[in-house]
Amino acid sequence: MMMMGVVSVREFDPSRDRESVEAVERICDVGPSGKLSLFTDLHGDPICRVRNSPTFLMLLAEIGQETVGMIRGCIKTVTCGKKRNKLPIYTKLAYILGLRVSPNHRRMGIGLKLVRKMEEWFRDNGAEYAYMATEKDNVASVNLFTHKCGYNKFRTPCILVNPVFAHPLKTFSNKVAIIRLAPVEAEFLYRSKFATTEFFPRDVDAVLNHRLTLGTFLAVPRGYTWPGESARFLAGPPASWALLSVWNCKDVFTLQVKGASRVKKTLVRTTRAVDRALPWLRLPSVPDFFRPFGFHFLYGLGGEGPEAHKMLRALCAFAHNLAKDRGCEVVATEVSSREPLRCAIPHWKMLSCEEDLWCIKRLGEDYSDGSLGDWTKSPPGFSIFVDPREV
Ligand SMILES: CC(C)(COP(=O)(O)OP(=O)(O)OC[C@H]1O[C@@H](n2cnc3c(N)ncnc32)[C@H](O)[C@@H]1OP(=O)(O)O)[C@@H](O)C(=O)NCCC(=O)NCCS
Repeated sequence: MMMMGVVSVREFDPSRDRESVEAVERICDVGPSGKLSLFTDLHGDPICRVRNSPTFLMLLAEIGQETVGMIRGCIKTVTCGKKRNKLPIYTKLAYILGLRVSPNHRRMGIGLKLVRKMEEWFRDNGAEYAYMATEKDNVASVNLFTHKCGYNKFRTPCILVNPVFAHPLKTFSNKVAIIRLAPVEAEFLYRSKFATTEFFPRDVDAVLNHRLTLGTFLAVPRGYTWPGESARFLAGPPASWALLSVWNCKDVFTLQVKGASRVKKTLVRTTRAVDRALPWLRLPSVPDFFRPFGFHFLYGLGGEGPEAHKMLRALCAFAHNLAKDRGCEVVATEVSSREPLRCAIPHWKMLSCEEDLWCIKRLGEDYSDGSLGDWTKSPPGFSIFVDPREV
């Protein structure tokens, strides 16, 4: 408790704090110790994971001149439910991410202090709810938020991760045609079909037009002719179709797995070398996760009709090949645990996370969601819109 007096919290200053933040980031394992751990290389830009959100803030905790912790937060307007007339109910939602306290300074109340300061900023900026995501077995983080900060366990979406092989995947092009949509057409389709999905961002146009969105792709049965615009497409859609968008995380940050034995590393490199040398065998090969690697994130996955699964599978294969051509090692996505199209998304269990835990809290007493009541108490829907700006 003596320490608390000397811990101060202030806003991150990019002109002088980059190095000290990176130093803390490097020594912070995320996940249970004694296992493989995932490191994030922010490419010298500590706010890269929030800077694409409409409003964001990063705070540092210091003892004297030493940086001992940090937290990032962002705020945006999202869907939290739907009205009787089926229109979306929007709310101002804050998100906490990238909370780190240096291992030598843990259990001194620094994490708690950072969360409280961030929540002050959220309230000052009109946020009605705050949420955070963590692995369910990250006891420190779960306890901090649920026991000390008043958050409740809310949703448990799954992160599905698929390796990018050295060989291309088949996109069933004899049966499925893939159309790239202009951002304005993608926006129309998303607003028409997804606007009442939980966490749908009201500024979806900013996401779709963002330089990191590599495209929105629509899969339809081969032979179907795209009518030129989404409004006409929706007036007479084919029996089945699917949709997804690709976000380029690779240019923002890279990941690296540390803590693997030499045997594991050799095994992985061998599968890769064989796949590269003999691509026609189409062997599933493990990418080299032990060097920094980049990935693409798939968002806005959806579809309709009896063959929507098949359409989505073709889109995922297409996205795999795009990632391969752009030098990514992994394609990832996050969907609701109840997502009806989930089984069409290829993934490796060992790389994926079955239960990403999202915890939520109401921040104040005045709400714009009067007709919904309390979002934190509402049952989950079948789908969730995971905003790629917050990956
Ligand atoms: C999670 C983390 C930020 C906590 O920071 P911290 O400064 O040690 O946390 P605090 O001292 O403020 O702890 C506040 C409360 O959180 C809980 N908590 C923190 N660490 C804990 C641990 N190792 N085990 C169990 N509960 C823990 C306790 O309830 C604690 O209150 P108490 O000390 O009175 O029992 C820190 O452990 C960390 O950086 N971990 C690695 C990165 C990470 O997992 N980030 C979270 C991603 S969302």
